[in-house]
Amino acid sequence: MTTAVLDVYLTESEWSATLRSDVRKGLTAIPKMLPPKWFYDAAGSQLYELITKLPEYYPFAAEHEILLARAGEIAAASRAECLVELGSGSSEKTCLLLDALSSVGTLRRYLPLDVSEAALRDAIDSLAAAYPGLVVHGIVGDFTRHLSQIPADGKRLLAFLGGTIGNLMPGDRAVFLRAVRQMLRSGEQLLLGTGLVIDPAVMVAAYDDEQGVTAEFNRNVLRVLNRELGANFVPEAFEHVALWDAEREWIEMRLRARHRLTVRVVELGLEVPFAAGEEMRTETSAKFRAEGVRAELAAAGFELTEWWTDTAQRFGLSLATAG
Ligand code: AVJ
Repeated sequence: MTTAVLDVYLTESEWSATLRSDVRKGLTAIPKMLPPKWFYDAAGSQLYELITKLPEYYPFAAEHEILLARAGEIAAASRAECLVELGSGSSEKTCLLLDALSSVGTLRRYLPLDVSEAALRDAIDSLAAAYPGLVVHGIVGDFTRHLSQIPADGKRLLAFLGGTIGNLMPGDRAVFLRAVRQMLRSGEQLLLGTGLVIDPAVMVAAYDDEQGVTAEFNRNVLRVLNRELGANFVPEAFEHVALWDAEREWIEMRLRARHRLTVRVVELGLEVPFAAGEEMRTETSAKFRAEGVRAELAAAGFELTEWWTDTAQRFGLSLATAG
């Protein structure tokens, strides 16, 4: 028996209302900015998949190494009946957790939540086929807004992998972690992946690869705006920029106008001028230190019970219990 259902909480109209307001706000701000969640249409999700296979993009492989080594311990410690995964995308690493939780014999349900309906649909169909008897229930939603839609039957382990928490601004991160804590019952667990602060040259290379895949991923947000909002960005007119902000300890991606230009966003009635060399921020990806992660989790009401890194210490995986 195969059971896969998909609930869409981020409806088409809500999605487009949020896109409009984000883009209007971001393109009229000084400096200009666009939130990273709009990268992930079908093409953007595919480009991210390609990024994870690049030699420079170590976070994916590093987290994979940790999960491969620790999935058994995680499953034994949590004995979860339900695995919830936020920002699951293609659910590539999920099999490691699903296998381990199946082995301890507790797992009944898998609940992935992602903004990308396309990525989610593919993931749930293949997982439902691979794990007969597992109830797979996908939720199309925004993890900053739809946590309350996550059902609560059975003991849950909530996984938030990939270092995606680093895409939230520090203030939003605190709000988000508190919301996650509120959504969980005391004793349920959070499995959190965080990129660590390492050699800036290595971090920057991960966001500015030789082949230019990350550059295409970055420019993809312009294609999303062209299609969804009738904008007329020429993606090639923008150069990909990745830099390390040593003070805030985050990697920042920007798009830099190669020359002076004006973009029209028909559906917003906006004319947006760019000066030559003007930069627009499209993503921040914060990197962490062990102590910082512990403190942020504690502030949100979690107790850190395990902290693992890959052997090269580039990535951290936390197992925390809701107090
Ligand atoms: C999807 C959030 C894990 O911030 O490293 C990859 C996205 N951006 N390359 C990250 C991303 C540029 C990625 N996460």
